[in-house]
Amino acid sequence: MSSPFSYRGGQLFAEDVAVASLAEQYGTPLFVYSRSHIRNQFRALAAALSDLKPLICYAVKVNSNAAVMATLAAEGAGADVVSAGELLRARRAGIPANRISFAGVGKTEAEIEVALKEDILLFTVESEPELDRISSCATRLGRTGRIAIRVNPDVDPKTHKYISTGKKENKFGVDIQRALQIYERAAQLPGLEIAGLHMHIGSQILDAQPYAEAAEKVARVCSELKARYPTFRMLDIGGGIGIQYRPDQAPLLPTTFASAVAPILKPLGVQILMEPGRVIVGNAGVLVTRVQYVKRGPSKQFLIVDAAMNDLIRPPLYQAHHEIGAVRETSKTVFGDVVGPICESGDFFALDRDLPAAQQGDLLVVHSAGAYAYTMASNYNSRPRAAEVMVEGARHELVRERETFDDLVRGEHIPHW
Ligand code: LLP
Repeated sequence: MSSPFSYRGGQLFAEDVAVASLAEQYGTPLFVYSRSHIRNQFRALAAALSDLKPLICYAVKVNSNAAVMATLAAEGAGADVVSAGELLRARRAGIPANRISFAGVGKTEAEIEVALKEDILLFTVESEPELDRISSCATRLGRTGRIAIRVNPDVDPKTHKYISTGKKENKFGVDIQRALQIYERAAQLPGLEIAGLHMHIGSQILDAQPYAEAAEKVARVCSELKARYPTFRMLDIGGGIGIQYRPDQAPLLPTTFASAVAPILKPLGVQILMEPGRVIVGNAGVLVTRVQYVKRGPSKQFLIVDAAMNDLIRPPLYQAHHEIGAVRETSKTVFGDVVGPICESGDFFALDRDLPAAQQGDLLVVHSAGAYAYTMASNYNSRPRAAEVMVEGARHELVRERETFDDLVRGEHIPHW
């Protein structure tokens, strides 16, 4: 899928809107999202997997802006949520409860109750005590919790260790060897319906092989479960499809992913669910930032910008690479770092790289900022969170206001003593 961000007449455009004009109008730092790209990515994934007709439950944690979710709701997406907050956001954006699955290792009683009252499609269950809890909440409320146990297939997704989740040393899921036993236990608990099985092996996965390997392993368990439990009808294969962050990186194409898993999953004759996030929104967004100072060090330059690690923490947290681009096209480069104003050496977007030669006041963009950027933002250093704008063709609209000082101190007070 081609990028929605391209140069025209030496200026960076987001679809048909000049990024510089958005920065003028809405200020910086600013997240800009392309609606067409989000929709195209969703459609490309659905088309690649058309044989399986999966229910695509968008992973809300990746970008939970209401406008992003409403775009996906209109495409027929469901949602994969991991908290009551995400669940209510998904509902508010127009995603029907019967397309929502609820994952996460630490669901509280209050969250389970919200989900049962909403009558969501599926709980993906991470442990035996969680089964007990869903059962007792459901019994108390006179509801049924449809469950899929998350199994840990113990495959190596060859991604960063913080975002790898399907190996046996990770906290996620239950040992695949014990899965049948745990289902037997679930079958005895009141208020539960054995509806499916869940797996998710990690994120930013660029190779289809680990998926095929995991699918083979869970397929065997699925067939057994289908034979044992007449209500068993769904297999949720999780998310994790990797995108291109570096120009020389090959993304995992939906078609490659589909060819690897469809032949294994199709014969199972169950409804397939998937929970993609990054692949849909990652390259739909940029973070626009203005250079405040150019500081010349002995061996390199520091481009000090007005965005910071509180806006996008991926580089220091995962050593993640994000491309840096100039809003006014230039072929001149300087060697150095792009850093924010926060009082930490970890406050950087790029280290020791050839960067666009920017001057004070120039605009830069941090690419691939549609996924795990705003949703991981904080107020560290008492910095208000950035604004978000959505673009479609020549239209643009502020879809989240920039936080104010009042937002920062809301709910905080000094004890009278
Ligand atoms: N399903 C489950 C159960 C998940 O835990 C995740 C992501 C997804 C789906 C969506 O994965 P995706 O398709 O986006 O790869 N903050 C990290 C990534 C953490 C992933 C957490 N789980 C990052 O910025 O790279």
